[in-house]
Amino acid sequence: MGMATRVPFVTAATTPPNQCHKYCMMALSLPLPASSSSLKLLSPLSSSFSSSLPFLSLATPRNQKGVKRVGNRISVVAMAESPKSTVLVTGAGGRTGQIVYKKLKERPNQYVARGLVRTEESKQSIGAADDVFVGDIRDAASIVPAIQGIDALIILTSAVPQMKPGFDPTQGKRPEFYFEDGSYPEQVDWIGQKNQIDAAKAAGVKQIVLVGSMGGTDLNHPLNSLGNGNILVWKRKAEQYLADSGIPYTIIRAGGLQDKDGGLRELLVGKDDELLKTEIRTIPRPDVAEVCIQALNFEEANFKAFDLASKPEGAGSATKDFKAFFSQITTRF
Ligand SMILES: NC(=O)c1ccc[n+]([C@@H]2O[C@H](COP(=O)([O-])OP(=O)(O)OC[C@H]3O[C@@H](n4cnc5c(N)ncnc54)[C@H](OP(=O)(O)O)[C@@H]3O)[C@@H](O)[C@H]2O)c1
Repeated sequence: MGMATRVPFVTAATTPPNQCHKYCMMALSLPLPASSSSLKLLSPLSSSFSSSLPFLSLATPRNQKGVKRVGNRISVVAMAESPKSTVLVTGAGGRTGQIVYKKLKERPNQYVARGLVRTEESKQSIGAADDVFVGDIRDAASIVPAIQGIDALIILTSAVPQMKPGFDPTQGKRPEFYFEDGSYPEQVDWIGQKNQIDAAKAAGVKQIVLVGSMGGTDLNHPLNSLGNGNILVWKRKAEQYLADSGIPYTIIRAGGLQDKDGGLRELLVGKDDELLKTEIRTIPRPDVAEVCIQALNFEEANFKAFDLASKPEGAGSATKDFKAFFSQITTRF
């Protein structure tokens, strides 16, 4: 038809590159025919633009705002949803891991959620969906099925110290802790996390978010003597391994985790445990979970490691702008 014209340019629009995996925008500009009741767009690549790119929906009633008339030209901004990101959270039966898993499931337009738990009991406890895999991070082969085909990995596994029986809080003594044989931080936080990073690398995973803990700069930190586990030492070793892996990473060293509501506090980042010398050293688990997920959305979060805590509720304004939040971080390790 005589009205058809070659599209003079096709450019990626100015969407931040970090959001390209969510939506791809294409801007097309073409002369506006005198009577444009039907427009046929031709791609420079194909004579049948729309049929060759079936995923691309041009100005529909939903995105009609994308059509703009400028003088005698018409600009069409077409938005195409790119494939969702498949995200695995390990430690999905844990207290923070299960919040991440739930949040991912609540955003089905963005993510295909997967969880990894250690036992069938844990799987049952988070709903026993088919997307929950059972595997032990100390056994590299057992986690491969969960990791195959994912885009991003969120690591929320941790050795868990057990309280020795017989602790009587009325005696004014501190409780004593131990790790079960085979479940020391060396096995879980070092070997287990290394196994996850190795499996992710082999599977071509594009991004890893790892939750660690503040305190790792101090060998004498009390957490290290807990159950003779040196937990912060082994966690730090795994963090270093991730930072050296070449995979885009975000290492979140959280302060003391609290079971409080999320989204209500101003989040603070720090480095080298400096926050531990202040009053701000705790953070609700849902806030840590949200930072894990937001890290997937912004390239400003990549190749960053930072301490994370929150101001008390009401002091400061709740953190909402995660692009700005990640942009302020300058530390790679
Ligand atoms: N607690 C704090 O105040 C604090 C402070 C700063 C940072 N952190 C860090 O923040 C992260 C989240 O803490 P959290 O308290 O929410 O975690 P959590 O409830 O202790 O959960 C840890 C998870 O790791 C899993 N896990 C342990 N060994 C495993 C294995 N061999 N294979 C597979 N999974 C295994 C556990 O599974 P099972 O349930 O089956 O055992 C559990 O679900 C941890 O890295 C923690 O060290 C905690």
